[in-house]
Amino acid sequence: MAQHRDYDIPVYSPAARGFHWLTVVLLLIQFPLGMYMTYRGYQMVYTDPAGETKTGLFDATTGNLYDGHKLLGITILSLVVLRLFYRLTAGAPPSDNSVPPALVGISHLTHWSIYLLLLAVPIAGYIGVSYYGALSAFGIPLPAVTAKDEKFSEQVFAYHEYLGWALLALIALHFAAAIYHRAVRKDRVVERMLPKRIV
Ligand code: HEM
Repeated sequence: MAQHRDYDIPVYSPAARGFHWLTVVLLLIQFPLGMYMTYRGYQMVYTDPAGETKTGLFDATTGNLYDGHKLLGITILSLVVLRLFYRLTAGAPPSDNSVPPALVGISHLTHWSIYLLLLAVPIAGYIGVSYYGALSAFGIPLPAVTAKDEKFSEQVFAYHEYLGWALLALIALHFAAAIYHRAVRKDRVVERMLPKRIV
């Protein structure tokens, strides 16, 4: 990856930074959406028109939230596939040589694990939807990738949830590392991925 002419250190290309920040924005919508729609569908307490108190509301709004989650998830999966292809062909700027090799190793392990989970989480979601047989979103048909097995879909959705928590944990570590670089080590690692040059 060539050094950008506006910078005095090697940085990620505008395309790599675009992929990174677009992924952040979409995940900031997708995680709360997934949590809220399942809360609404399974746990929300409400009073039905007959005055009875019930738990878990699967109405048109919940259905639309599920459809939005499915479409956004497929969009994130497509974006990650493109991003990975770009990353594997265009590469990344060389590591900042002020950073100890052990830390560089841990950061590479974290980054590649995040990529792996960014593939595994939406793939598990899609497979769950296929087993469940809920193969449409806002009227758009989604192709089946498995036979229908509603019971087994529960297990796949549980994997989707656990992998989602693992992804969130690694993203938290990644974010904490960015703060550590800027606030504690005071190196220039974070500048390599910021949307714009700030110094
Ligand atoms: C990176 C992308 C994705 C993320 C971060 C994500 C995240 C989540 C989260 C946090 C939940 C709530 C889990 C819970 O608390 O029970 C959830 C549930 C769900 N997700 Fe995803 N998801 C993604 C992609 C997808 C895709 C591609 C599909 C299908 C096309 C999908 C289908 C579902 C469904 C149907 C549920 C609800 C399962 C149930 O009702 O038990 N997700 N997702």
